[in-house]
Amino acid sequence: MNFEYAAAPESRSVVKIDPVYGHFINGKWVSGSAHFNTINPATEEVLSSIALGSAADVDTAVKAARNAFDKSWSKLSGRERGKYLFRIARIMQERAREFAVLETLDNGKPIRESRDVDVPLSAAHFFYHAGWADKLEYAGVDTTTAPHGVVGQIIPWNFPLLMLAWKVAPALATGNTVVLKPAETTSLTALLFAQVCQQAGLPDGVVNIVTGDGSTGSAIVNHPGIDKIAFTGSTEVGKLIARAVAPTNKSLTLELGGKGANIVFGDAAIDETVEGIVNGIFFNQGHVCCAGSRLILQESVADEVLEKLKRRMDKIRVGDPLDKNTDLGAINSAEQLAKIRELTAAGEAEGAGRWSANCALPTNGFWFAPTIFTGVTQAHRIAREEIFGPVLSVLTFRTPAEAIEKANNTPFGLSAGIWSEKGSNILWATQQLRAGVIWANTFNKFDPASPFGGYKESGWGREGGRHGLSAYLKGSAK
Ligand code: NAI
Ligand code: MG
Repeated sequence: MNFEYAAAPESRSVVKIDPVYGHFINGKWVSGSAHFNTINPATEEVLSSIALGSAADVDTAVKAARNAFDKSWSKLSGRERGKYLFRIARIMQERAREFAVLETLDNGKPIRESRDVDVPLSAAHFFYHAGWADKLEYAGVDTTTAPHGVVGQIIPWNFPLLMLAWKVAPALATGNTVVLKPAETTSLTALLFAQVCQQAGLPDGVVNIVTGDGSTGSAIVNHPGIDKIAFTGSTEVGKLIARAVAPTNKSLTLELGGKGANIVFGDAAIDETVEGIVNGIFFNQGHVCCAGSRLILQESVADEVLEKLKRRMDKIRVGDPLDKNTDLGAINSAEQLAKIRELTAAGEAEGAGRWSANCALPTNGFWFAPTIFTGVTQAHRIAREEIFGPVLSVLTFRTPAEAIEKANNTPFGLSAGIWSEKGSNILWATQQLRAGVIWANTFNKFDPASPFGGYKESGWGREGGRHGLSAYLKGSAK
């Protein structure tokens, strides 16, 4: 049975949303010439009007970032830079509730996740990198300790504030200045972060935020005054950026898509595994590049796992993201919902068995019930392409070698999970899997000290940890 809970909505009164926003350039707000709306995907209510950055806006921001690099930021010691980062981290903690509510309104993710995952991890990223700012000589990086200069950063909509933190914190700690573009559906927490930069007294021009769409992103990528590009988003756009940057001197890191294998061996603790499967694919509506979107089950336990998984999925609470009881919120946009529908329709057409949790979906906004497909084969689109929604493709295996072969049979290589009580199984499997992050008997755990990134079409370079610092430092030390 499902327990009945009274609604426990978080108050929206902690956030103040302006009707129109400009860009944040050189420490000041600069009006945009064109605008587009950002909406709450759970209700389709218009939240605000966001400036659509032009090539001229990007140029102004790059000049501000260059000036700040030359005149102030590169002149500061690591210790002084670290002080600003500590200050930003503490302000983020102080304003955590505001950030969490704003993220949930603009993105559609449950307040439980924005409050307990996105915002605390964002602050943790600033604290972690604040600590490195004056210790770069001792970090053991394979680069010099000199910054690139001006860094262009383009981020996606699935973890808006957290992806900003992943990009901005290491860039500033290593002495670079930044021009960042948030994703078009989720600009609001980046604009609140701009206020935090002002509050922290960060020198003007060190962080510049230009809002906009793909054309704004492209203007950043192609601007000759930028020394390094850092991108997180789709593999398709990642390839465009790689082509644009190839004939230049710009340095590049790409964090792209994934199709993570979550492998369950016959000896796994089934109840814990079922929780891990749910967390692996239904966390953040499955809008997670490292989601465990391919469940690879040993045949001996497949029926039991699937039965328990379906029972558990029927208890997932789908609905108002601001309700503290909600597990699964809204799909981020009409476009993303259309993509999920297209791929799930292809799954049915290609012969996989579809099963969705029995839950009522709200009438306004964008929603998709937690869904699994059984009888999936390697040839199916739902086994190969990133769905980026609350949809799990289930495959089975008999021998461990078959599990590894299926897991690695993908153009991606970002994450994987292994469920087994036997340590030797886990060690053997981790050595065979081609994935940047591998979790054992857990999933979707993140820490600023742990490098994150992928093989093959999942991207280039690592973010986080000591490895992530190198990406923001010049050349080889050798
Ligand atoms: P996208 O790659 O188009 O958007 C990501 C960011 O890139 C946004 O800020 C966007 O404005 C910017 N952008 C778009 N075109 C650009 C261009 N030509 N040059 C520079 N910047 C550009 O991703 P989208 O369309 O939002 O999502 C499509 C699919 O991509 C999703 O269904 C999902 O499969 C995947 N995706 C993966 C993410 C990840 O974390 N790896 C994040 C977001 C999407
Ligand atoms: Mg929005």
